Amino acid sequence: METASDSTRHTHKVDQLFGAIAARYDLVNDIQSLGLHRVWKRRVVVLANFNEGETGLDLCCGTGDIAIGLAKRGGALVGMDLNRPMLLQAAARLAKRGDQCVRLAQADALNLPLGNHSLDLVTIGYGLRNLGSMEDGLREITRVLKPGGRLLILDFGKPANRLLRSAYYLYLAWILPVFGWLCCGNASAYAYILDSLKKYPAQKGVAAKLDLLGYKSVQIIDIMGGTMSIHVAIK
Ligand SMILES: C[S@@+](CC[C@H](N)C(=O)[O-])C[C@H]1O[C@@H](n2cnc3c(N)ncnc32)[C@H](O)[C@@H]1O
Repeated sequence: METASDSTRHTHKVDQLFGAIAARYDLVNDIQSLGLHRVWKRRVVVLANFNEGETGLDLCCGTGDIAIGLAKRGGALVGMDLNRPMLLQAAARLAKRGDQCVRLAQADALNLPLGNHSLDLVTIGYGLRNLGSMEDGLREITRVLKPGGRLLILDFGKPANRLLRSAYYLYLAWILPVFGWLCCGNASAYAYILDSLKKYPAQKGVAAKLDLLGYKSVQIIDIMGGTMSIHVAIK
């Protein structure tokens, strides 16, 4: 069983990991997914159906891809992340675009500085798998969402097809760390993806946790044979 100090240690480790790769994070994403991560994140933005007059949070916003996409839709959007170097990358991107429609804040997903039932939308892209306690993270998200609010989770998935799953795990174990080493001089940060995925309950496990938290509807959208997935949940 995970204790509170395990969770704190994990959060600290993840913070250091992203601090070390922040400057090249976008580049590696583009290379390792052949640019497809942009398509998947755009899909999240479309599914989120974020409208003017609504309030939204892009949690674990990193360098801001999803936050920027959502903010173009008109609602009031805040991007939150634990890691300062990742937030600085997001801030630099926003400044370059002359974009003032995303507010950025440094915060821990396990202790959100937001009121109960205050948001219409929460998105979290490749973040849930990284939290020290996924259960606590989901509880915090549920706390800040209004009844009827939407939660969209984009993350690595576990393909149901065994052959595809084996090939995919080989890619994550051997090819991805090479990109990490070539682009950031850091293979271990990218080897961590497979470690974290093995512990992550992915499509069915996350859906079960959302059901337990009382979400009215939970939909799983598999992408590329389930190598990635999007959960769309209504509180
Ligand atoms: C893989 S990146 C994803 C960034 C962005 N959402 C994207 O899809 O490109 C994961 C992000 O989660 C953030 N993160 C990890 N643990 C966190 C926590 N406990 N609270 C807030 N952010 C956290 C990291 O700092 C990192 O920026």
